[in-house]
Amino acid sequence: MLIGVKSMSLLGINGYLVDVQVDVGNGLPSWDVVGLPDTSVKESKERVRAAIKNSNFNLPSKKIVINLAPAYTKKEGSFFDLPIAVGILFDLGIIKNTFDNYLFIGELSLDGTLNRINGILPMCIEALNLGIENVIIPYENRLEAGVVNSLNIYPAKTLLDVVNHLNNVEQLSSFATDNASLFSNANSYNLDFSEVKGQENVKRALEIAAAGAHNCLLIGSPGSGKTMLSRRLPSILPDLSFDEALEVSKIHSIAGVLPSDKSLITTRPFRSPHHTMSTSALIGGGKVPKPGEISLAHHGLLFLDELPEFNKSALESLRIPLEDRIITISRTSCTLTYPCNFMLIASMNPCPCGYYGSKEKSCSCSQDMIEKYINKISGPLLDRIDIHIEVQQVKYENLNNLSPSESSKDIKKRVDLAREIQRERYKDYNIYSNSELTSNMMDKYCKLDKDSQNIMKSAFEKLGLSARAYGKILKVARTIADLEQCENISSNHIAEAIQYRSLDRKYWR
Ligand SMILES: Nc1ncnc2c1ncn2[C@@H]1O[C@H](COP(=O)(O)OP(=O)(O)OP(=O)(O)O)[C@@H](O)[C@H]1O
Ligand SMILES: [Mg+2]
Ligand SMILES: [Zn+2]
Repeated sequence: MLIGVKSMSLLGINGYLVDVQVDVGNGLPSWDVVGLPDTSVKESKERVRAAIKNSNFNLPSKKIVINLAPAYTKKEGSFFDLPIAVGILFDLGIIKNTFDNYLFIGELSLDGTLNRINGILPMCIEALNLGIENVIIPYENRLEAGVVNSLNIYPAKTLLDVVNHLNNVEQLSSFATDNASLFSNANSYNLDFSEVKGQENVKRALEIAAAGAHNCLLIGSPGSGKTMLSRRLPSILPDLSFDEALEVSKIHSIAGVLPSDKSLITTRPFRSPHHTMSTSALIGGGKVPKPGEISLAHHGLLFLDELPEFNKSALESLRIPLEDRIITISRTSCTLTYPCNFMLIASMNPCPCGYYGSKEKSCSCSQDMIEKYINKISGPLLDRIDIHIEVQQVKYENLNNLSPSESSKDIKKRVDLAREIQRERYKDYNIYSNSELTSNMMDKYCKLDKDSQNIMKSAFEKLGLSARAYGKILKVARTIADLEQCENISSNHIAEAIQYRSLDRKYWR
């Protein structure tokens, strides 16, 4: 008899329903899987057979045909072990009741235990969308699945537990997460700006970056605190909303990096890939496609420490995702997209020796070497960075100062207010922050008075700013005005914004 067992697979960051049709018939003993399975699905044979036997069920030598529908999408992963085993055991009469409103997801070990799998969260969300009521999942995935708490989530440890549940011998207990409490201690970063002594101007620039969601670049000598400062940026960004947290968690679930003791990621991600990382690990892809670092940084920060050390092709590959905020990965069988709406923070030394412009040590590089070093970062990437921040070594008086600096919590209050203003102003457009302003919108929202125009003009003449700087200065000035809750941009906003374009100057510093 042919039986259909509902299961799920993944396409991009979403689950989609797969009907696992199992037929156990008479004929030469065999095992066939059809419906575009990849090798990991084909390997289910050994796991499922052993798991059934080791759960003390008798598996007669029969012709077993498994069809995964719809047939036109490639099925990857080992999530189908459980639905295949359930289908076989039903056909053999070992499972006695039908299970129309059930979804089964799980990989089996040879001994019949269910293993934790990746991507359970998007699958459960899709199950809810489809109106499925009951989902059986591996016990180790319960925290993640329990977030979708209007489903009956049944975590199971073994295949035998699943059979006993379906036969009403012993019911599995359902599991749900208390989602409100997950957020009660959200945004509890253990790093805080109060730990950074001095550096008030850098903190100010980072506050502006956070307030307008501007990509930024820190430039300074070794040990000046670039890494320390960058790591604290998430602590002043607005809290994640529940929907954002779900999206972030889905991506981490698929990539298999959701911590096993966590239901959801409730704080903004901070990803800092090393400069030796491959382009596919950075942007996503691979044989079995996985989200890359840029997608793991979705709704959070991507930190590229020592930017010029990254290879050119990796930096080039960031251009389109920085613009589109999604990444498309082409495969032979299909095209996948992953979201990657991240804020970029990068750091670099000012020159190869690291001390150009430093007040501590003198630089030993030639002008030529310095230019070559800066040119490692291509213009199109620089085009996507609104704020350049020069970081000087902290002064000894400041290091020695025992009075605490302003806390991240207090800085964040101002950031939140400025973000609120932007949300309200741009509510009819599909944007949320000043960093996303198009030139048409800048004409409308970044008007300059006479004084501001004069300052801008003389800055271009005296500093030799490149044309690229113009729009960036307007956007950043808009954010500075928003932090002060000023409706109009004034000359002091423009004057401050001009300072954040170091690398656009003809002779910088
Ligand atoms: N303003 C500061 N307040 C307190 N500690 C600081 C400050 N600046 C630097 N430090 C200390 O110096 C250490 C080095 O800073 P950090 O690693 O952030 O420098 P960096 O600019 O990233 O250097 P590199 O170019 O070598 O990567 C920090 O871990 C911290 O202990
Ligand atoms: Mg560093
Ligand atoms: Zn140098």
